[in-house]
Amino acid sequence: MAKRDLISITDFKKQEILGLFKEAKKFKKNPFCRKNALSSKSIALVFQKPSNRTRVSFEVGMVDLGGHAVYLGPDELKLGVRESVKDIAKVLSRYLDGIVARTFKHEDVVALAKFSTVPVINGLSELLHPCQALGDLFTIDNYFGNKKIKIAFIGDGNNVLHSLLLGCGMLGRDIYAATPAGCGPKKEILKAAGKLAARSKSTIEITHDACECVSNADVIYTDVWVSMGHEAEREKRIKLFKPFQVNKKLVSLAKKSALIMHCLPAHRGEEITDEVIDSKNSVVYEQAENRMHVQKAVLLKLIK
Ligand code: CP
Ligand code: NVA
Repeated sequence: MAKRDLISITDFKKQEILGLFKEAKKFKKNPFCRKNALSSKSIALVFQKPSNRTRVSFEVGMVDLGGHAVYLGPDELKLGVRESVKDIAKVLSRYLDGIVARTFKHEDVVALAKFSTVPVINGLSELLHPCQALGDLFTIDNYFGNKKIKIAFIGDGNNVLHSLLLGCGMLGRDIYAATPAGCGPKKEILKAAGKLAARSKSTIEITHDACECVSNADVIYTDVWVSMGHEAEREKRIKLFKPFQVNKKLVSLAKKSALIMHCLPAHRGEEITDEVIDSKNSVVYEQAENRMHVQKAVLLKLIK
């Protein structure tokens, strides 16, 4: 059987995603329910950027499944500098059973997948963050089941929003996003997500008005204003994004029960206030935990 990669959430079919959620529910109940499923299997974590959640959840996830993970940070491989992406992919494929990659350029994770003979999982690129969206949609699924809800994303139209749009389109979830002008999702992503949404009869709407976006929402989601690799634009972006802060006033426009979500790391006082992220409706830590449950299901599916 040909190996499969997870570069975009769209690499899975809807039924497969629902299957992952079913498996993830078992892990949530008992993290050790598949103790030896990946015994003698190893993966590499090829990371060009820092990470807490993605790195730790994959490393510990592998151990829980009886396998092993090798972390290769920015200083080890120097992707494309010390060695070509192609050579790295070909060599790692001879040692390991899978690769999780966090890259700057999206093309690098695509090239790793192209040249490796083992599954490659995108652990965040500048374009997409499929593991995040899978964890987030699992979290939403746990709270709302099949109920029709309004998800409001406030902030940067970047990797996290891109994967959420695609995932919502696939699963038939209604998502509304408010971003500053010029910081919306990429056209090609919007087009692909729109097609998926038309098929699943769900809504995707992009606006520049945060208040309109959160109105009557069931979920409010935000991400940092300055993503990794964009630090040079920090000052400009902080000013531009100010009206998009998720604070008490903005949250008061949503449903009283609205869940607060954030992929983390959070820049408290920028995209979200302490008051909101620490509020009783905030599920950000459970959301982080769920990454691990879903990723274990992904590892089982792709590597076993
Ligand atoms: N949300 C997320 O991917 O976190 P890390 O950058 O810490 O992995
Ligand atoms: N958009 C953020 C997500 C971090 C998990 C970034 O790329 O830095």
